[in-house]
Formats: sequence, structure tokens, C-alpha cells
Amino acid sequence: MMGNERWSMEGSTALVTGGSKGIGRAIVEELARFGVAVHTCSRNEEELNAMLNQWKSMNFHVTGSICDVSNHAEREKLMDEVRTIFNGKLDILVNNAGTSAETAWRPVTQITTEKYSFLMATNFDSCFHLSQLAHPLLKSSGRGSVVFISSIAGTGGFTEGLAVYSSTKVTKKNVLK
Ligand SMILES: NC(=O)c1ccc[n+]([C@@H]2O[C@H](COP(=O)([O-])OP(=O)(O)OC[C@H]3O[C@@H](n4cnc5c(N)ncnc54)[C@H](OP(=O)(O)O)[C@@H]3O)[C@@H](O)[C@H]2O)c1
Repeated sequence: MMGNERWSMEGSTALVTGGSKGIGRAIVEELARFGVAVHTCSRNEEELNAMLNQWKSMNFHVTGSICDVSNHAEREKLMDEVRTIFNGKLDILVNNAGTSAETAWRPVTQITTEKYSFLMATNFDSCFHLSQLAHPLLKSSGRGSVVFISSIAGTGGFTEGLAVYSSTKVTKKNVLK
């Protein structure tokens, strides 16, 4: 018997940011296999559309939006879309989109204000604001969960050259009240 024949999440809804590749893609597909209706987002339209077509051919219920989660207005637009698609109810928010680009493996003294802001906006601000925006939808579900994708780099001074990335990944635990 296949694992997903033993239990199901049919009827549940999820928003997974950054689902077009990597860990986010794996999360989207795992949730979809359990019957969850998933919405995801990424910046590259061509790559996202290719994945949406692939998921459709696999009979997965996945929709998607082009959204740069580092942008305040785009986050609001994304949540508006999610509210409409899922009729105001969200069971799971997975704050996955993240990067170490622009700042990785550089000494702190070489990280410009722009690069610092880029990383904080992408990895940290996005999670905080999307969780706030999702709060009423999660409440409507009655069993809402928020998942943050941390990193071993967030456990402390992991290694040289990851100071800013590490600070965006410091143990992300949350309780939404
Ligand atoms: N890979 C690892 O070893 C590792 C280890 C620990 C933790 N993590 C964490 O796991 C998460 C996923 O990492 P990954 O390795 O799977 O990354 P990845 O392969 O580079 O994929 C990142 C995904 O997020 C999207 N994305 C990136 N920036 C975005 C933005 N500003 N707005 C919207 N979407 C965005 C990307 O699509 P677009 O580029 O098209 O936007 C892509 O779909 C990150 O939070 C990362 O910090 C990764």
C-alpha cells in the first residue's frame, strides 16, 4: 500500500512560496500528493509556467502567481490572490522562498547596504509580512499552520561568509495568536 493511500489531506489548502524549484518544489509536490490544493509563487514566469504545466499533467491541484516576495506590494497582491482562490481559508503557509545570493561568502565589510537589504527583505521581511497577511485566512481555517524554512546556518556562527544569511535563518519558531 502506498503511504498516501493510508491518509489524506484532501480539502486542505496551502501557500508555498518559491515552489518552482529546489526544496519548495518538493514541498509543493508532497502536499499535492496528499490531496492539498497548493498555491505557489516565484519570480521567473517561464520556469513557473513550466512547472504548473507539469503539475497539471500529474493531476496535481497547483496554481501559481508571479511574485517577488521581497516586495511589500507584491506580497499584498499575492495574498489577495490566495484569498480569492481558496475562498478566504488557508490551512498551511510555508515561508520557503529564500536565498543566500548577493551576500554569501563575502566578508561582512564588503556587504553593501543594498545587498544587506536585499537579503533581509527576501528571507526575513517576507516571512513576517506574509504571516501577518495570512493570519485572517489561517484563523478561518481553524487549524492554520505556518512553516518557516530555517537552516543549519541559523544555529549560530555557522561559518565565515554567511553572517547575513545566518541572521535571516536564526531559529524561526512562531505562534500566531
Ligand atoms: N539548499 C540548501 O542547502 C538549504 C539548506 C537550508 C535551508 N535552505 C532554505 O530553503 C529554502 C529554499 O532553498 P532552495 O535551496 O530550495 O533554493 P532554490 O533551489 O534556489 O529555490 C528557491 C525558490 O524560491 C524562489 N524565490 C527566490 N527568491 C524569491 C523571491 N524574492 N520571490 C519569490 N520567489 C523567490 C525561486 O524562484 P525564482 O528564482 O524564479 O524567484 C525558487 O522557486 C530557502 O529559504 C533556503 O534558505 C536551503
